[in-house]
Amino acid sequence: MLEKDNFLKYVPIFADLDDETLDKIGRLGKYKSFEKDSAILMEHETGSALFVIVKGKVKVFRVSDDGREVILSILADSDFFGEMAILDGLTRSASVSAIEDSELFIIQRSDFLDLLYNHPEVSISLMQELTKRLRAADMKIKSLSLKDAEGKVATVILQLADDIGKIRQGVVEIEKLPFQHDLANMAGTSRETISRTLHSFAKKGLIELDGSKLKIPNYEKFKELFQ
Ligand code: CMP
Repeated sequence: MLEKDNFLKYVPIFADLDDETLDKIGRLGKYKSFEKDSAILMEHETGSALFVIVKGKVKVFRVSDDGREVILSILADSDFFGEMAILDGLTRSASVSAIEDSELFIIQRSDFLDLLYNHPEVSISLMQELTKRLRAADMKIKSLSLKDAEGKVATVILQLADDIGKIRQGVVEIEKLPFQHDLANMAGTSRETISRTLHSFAKKGLIELDGSKLKIPNYEKFKELFQ
């Protein structure tokens, strides 16, 4: 966990700010803890706060009319969420809940908008992150509409590698893989397909599975095959 007092320095959208401004932001926001499985915000609610993850993991999801959950993204330490309702003034675009005990730093809308007006470097970093999320969403649209089961599962593995994986010397490790039914909800396929495909990838040496840990021994090759 990052030290509370200086964690803002490690949040990419705030990384270019000087210490004085970081101190000011630190005083503007407040910290709040959320237990694993608790709701943080709900789709369609009105929203007036931005959330930064100090420690923990959350899932961003939507629920279909027949009650099925689709996970859009998993966010972890130093990521932010809740910016969409702040920026466009509409209701929350998705629900967010904690998948681990999490500590969040919460900034109110007017304070965040002041920051964007007064510090263009924060606005640019924010746009860079939103661009990254749009690219991930584009990849998912392609995967859902064009790819076979292997392609869909591989796309989810690539998304998780990007969201919560740690890369070292071309090897990616995802410490805690989500449950298979969550992977199925991310991939738009069944739990059985997830299980079968993961084992087939492992047999081909494309991934290594050890309990809830997943390793991609050759990340570049994996990307080349499935991106
Ligand atoms: P907001 O709409 O205010 O509340 C829900 C939040 O989930 C949203 O802001 C974003 O921060 C986040 N979110 C929505 N869609 C995605 C996505 N596809 N990838 C990552 N985060 C998302």
